[in-house]
Amino acid sequence: ILEDASVVADWAARFVLQRITEFGPGPDRRFVLGLPTGGTPLGMYRRLIDFYKEGRISFKYVTTFNMDEYVGLPRDHPESYHYYMWNEFFKHIDIDPAHAHVLDGNAPNLVAECQRFETLIREAGGVRLFIGGIGPDGHIAFNEPGSSLVSRTRVKTLAYDTLEANKRFFGNDISKVPRQALTVGVGTVMDAHEVMILITGVHKALALAKAVEEGVNHMWTVSAFQQHAQALFVCDEDATLEL
Ligand code: GLP
Repeated sequence: ILEDASVVADWAARFVLQRITEFGPGPDRRFVLGLPTGGTPLGMYRRLIDFYKEGRISFKYVTTFNMDEYVGLPRDHPESYHYYMWNEFFKHIDIDPAHAHVLDGNAPNLVAECQRFETLIREAGGVRLFIGGIGPDGHIAFNEPGSSLVSRTRVKTLAYDTLEANKRFFGNDISKVPRQALTVGVGTVMDAHEVMILITGVHKALALAKAVEEGVNHMWTVSAFQQHAQALFVCDEDATLEL
């Protein structure tokens, strides 16, 4: 539990820096990182870009997998997660584009696209550190309430609460928010060696309480990480209001 969102961002960026540095990636030894989008991780990405510019970190031998992507939004749509990742992070660092994987929400066969993503993660040797955020309804990635806790990457129809929460990115017009998304499963994230979930703001307080103080259950999918061997929740004071 840290003071506020900016301290969480700084702490999370230092954690990533430390993990990548101690792993010592190289041409035959890539660090595999799972990444989220949304407002919460933006500060962490900005700090990581600073570390890169200061010469403290390189992403040359880092492979990334993003958690999710809307279905049907063009890649260059400012709200697509593809656009977000390139604009907010990848274009500012030395990552190899061939190793920065984002699900393709416009693939002709979405089921095959999800299977391809799972295969790529497996072939990369699994995710070393998966970073996530949560929705106010306690979803991780787009694993909406009721998702299986052993789910894999798949197509999901978004819950009304998620459309409501995300409409702010679409001119506050809920009809503009895509109705479906591709998302890694809870099981996909659970397979990671280590998981770090960032939770800030009073609007996430109920979800954090459900996640850590009540039983593991599929209506608050982030609660699954109570059973992960190395899961870390990094929160600000506001998010702890219901604990
Ligand atoms: C979306 C994404 C999640 C993200 C969540 C929270 O629903 N699918 O991966 O964690 O938003 O976003 P924010 O950080 O903007 O609150």
